[in-house]
Amino acid sequence: MVNNHHQIIPLAVVALMATMTCSAQSYPTRLLEHEQQIEEIMKDMTLDEKIAMLHGKNMFSSAGIPRLGIADMEYADGPFGIREEMEPHSWNPLHLETDYATFFPTGSALAATWSTEWAYNYGRGMSREARLRGKDMILGPAMNIQRVPTGGRTYEYLSEDPLLSGALAVAYTRGSQDDGTAVCLKHYALNNQEDYRGFVDVHISDRAMYEIYLRPFEMAVREADAWALMAAYNKVRGRWCSENELLLNTILRKQWGFPGMVISDWGGVHSTVDAVTAGMNVEMPGNRFMGQALLDSVKAGKVSEEVINQRVREILRVRLTVEPIAKEIANSKPVGNPEEMAIALEVARRSIVLLKNEECSAKKGQDGEKLLPIDFKRVKRILVVGENAVTKMALGGVGAGVKTRQEITPLEGLQKALDGKINITYVQGYKSFDRSSRGKRQSPQQPADAQLLEEAVKAAKNADLVLFFAGDNREVETEGSDRKSITLPSGQDELAQALAKANKRLVTVIVAGGPVDVSTVSEVSAALLVSWFNGSMGGQAIAEVLTGDVSPSGKLPMTWPKKLEDVPAYATGSFPQQVNNDNQGDIFVGLTRNQSNDRRQQLVANYAEESLVGYRWYDAKKVAVAYPFGYGLSYAQFQYSGISVKPTVEGFDVNFTLANTSGVDAEEVVQVYVSRPLSHIERPEKELKAFKRVVLKGGESQKVTVPVRRTDLCHWDEAAQTWMLEPGTITLKVGGSSDNLPLSAEVVI
Ligand code: GLC
Repeated sequence: MVNNHHQIIPLAVVALMATMTCSAQSYPTRLLEHEQQIEEIMKDMTLDEKIAMLHGKNMFSSAGIPRLGIADMEYADGPFGIREEMEPHSWNPLHLETDYATFFPTGSALAATWSTEWAYNYGRGMSREARLRGKDMILGPAMNIQRVPTGGRTYEYLSEDPLLSGALAVAYTRGSQDDGTAVCLKHYALNNQEDYRGFVDVHISDRAMYEIYLRPFEMAVREADAWALMAAYNKVRGRWCSENELLLNTILRKQWGFPGMVISDWGGVHSTVDAVTAGMNVEMPGNRFMGQALLDSVKAGKVSEEVINQRVREILRVRLTVEPIAKEIANSKPVGNPEEMAIALEVARRSIVLLKNEECSAKKGQDGEKLLPIDFKRVKRILVVGENAVTKMALGGVGAGVKTRQEITPLEGLQKALDGKINITYVQGYKSFDRSSRGKRQSPQQPADAQLLEEAVKAAKNADLVLFFAGDNREVETEGSDRKSITLPSGQDELAQALAKANKRLVTVIVAGGPVDVSTVSEVSAALLVSWFNGSMGGQAIAEVLTGDVSPSGKLPMTWPKKLEDVPAYATGSFPQQVNNDNQGDIFVGLTRNQSNDRRQQLVANYAEESLVGYRWYDAKKVAVAYPFGYGLSYAQFQYSGISVKPTVEGFDVNFTLANTSGVDAEEVVQVYVSRPLSHIERPEKELKAFKRVVLKGGESQKVTVPVRRTDLCHWDEAAQTWMLEPGTITLKVGGSSDNLPLSAEVVI
């Protein structure tokens, strides 16, 4: 029985589905193709040579076995660009002329594309550059769930949702490893904050841990054969991740069948015997615990040579799978080539999210018209306001900075796109937050600069259109510390209000990596977009969207809350933690400045919200948000109709018709959520279970099929300690945003 919006599948037809197990189909690993060769090599190795492989050699390398022709392993930060060469034993760059790279859009921008195709290309592009730079392993993707929007690395990470995070990490991993470079999934696991990341102890239920926080890592290991992971700095249930038997041996190796290697985060190892026994392969960057101390421990019989052999075996599996690059070839050819820049552009184009584009009439009674795309019949003078229009975002953020030859800023992109046809004036508008500035400006939250505001308001009066580039920068959002607020910095709200008073034709572009409070700018701007920290080509991409060359198609990969108090981690009081002596600088700061980090400090983060992270919470608590997960407008209009569901071997296909009823060529990300109101166990109101990016020319209609996998419908049964598929009725909801799901169908499994 099918109608346009609702369908029930006969019980018999799909009952068989329930008999299937929840095992995620495993992707064939390539790491086990050298077992015989590895055994031969190990027979020749001395104990010293084995131990030498288990810790850092240089800041970003660990030792091979020169005598046996086994190359060192070369690691490279970061997740969105191959970091410049550093001095071998310090954090100082070498300032070479041959180690530039493409600055790819950061994690949250990639996630906003909801495109596994472009995540694959992104991973391949990263590998191309890693190979040119002589690197064997990319220290990425960074993929921790964005539990707190103020997390310093929300911009590096992907999403608040495990399926979106996992699917993109799978694609990135396959893209990179198909091209020959290992990924290193990080930070495993539950590194969801930066403050006190060096010792915060996460307490969490099994179900929330498996279904939400580990799920993306499990997908990338089992469905993309990730060859390495990085153990996080924090503790989980009282044990450091780098010596966590549950995470490293029980779950990662035994349950997921992971054959590869685990490296520590830099300075994140805290023991010798526990770490190597729990499954840690390489201590980075030094040898404090897994050098001489480990050799002594073996000789004293504290740890068996078989454990050492297993750790070495796991490293050699990766080493023999990744083709080493000879030192004399590394950094000998240009990097940041057109092919990789093109990938950065295509990702940036699809990442930009249009949040608002309403009619605006400059004068009462005058016909309103939407300000975007820019109407060049009407607009002859554009005012660009804000330092984020001219700020380059590639460098910064400690380990995730990229030295690039090219980063097109929004102003440059607009100047290039409008090449003299339109008069563009730029004013600074506000003073961006800059950590290095001394004195009182130690917080991004400063009042507007009166002189800059006055100058901007004056200029706005004469413009046909005002483009206000607001948002954060790589100093506000950074590894090592969490934001204390989501209020726009540098008095930007006050500036926005003043600009709107001077000229209603105001478009605001938020350049940020994580959510900001857009309540003011959304109210005073006729149009509002998010353009992320969007890589080397970000300025071209935003110009193409503003001028209409590209229709915006990004969707929010995380909820933008109205206020921080609404966020589950804040509402449950588990974040931020109050620490009595605040000299607990970030572990990294300790490392780089040789400050002692007293990590005996007991600090527990109790993930009391359980699985209700992000939209799961706002749905459950009926809390209104500023802009919901999965939300993003287009210059086109889409119509969803005619849903039907067909069982398949893997689960079932959701079929429907998607029409682009406008004359504008565009792309839409269709989303499938599952609700189980009759379930016998507690569940979020709905959960994303599938998505697909669809290309539709103006006026085109397409029959769309989105596969839903059974394995994604399973839940973690804490009693049975395994994944289970609960039989019963499920409701599938389909649409272009988590808050706009016009189609639904019921399936009995
Ligand atoms: C840092 C980061 C990690 C990075 C590593 C090397 O502390 O946590 O993401 O890859 O150290 O720079």
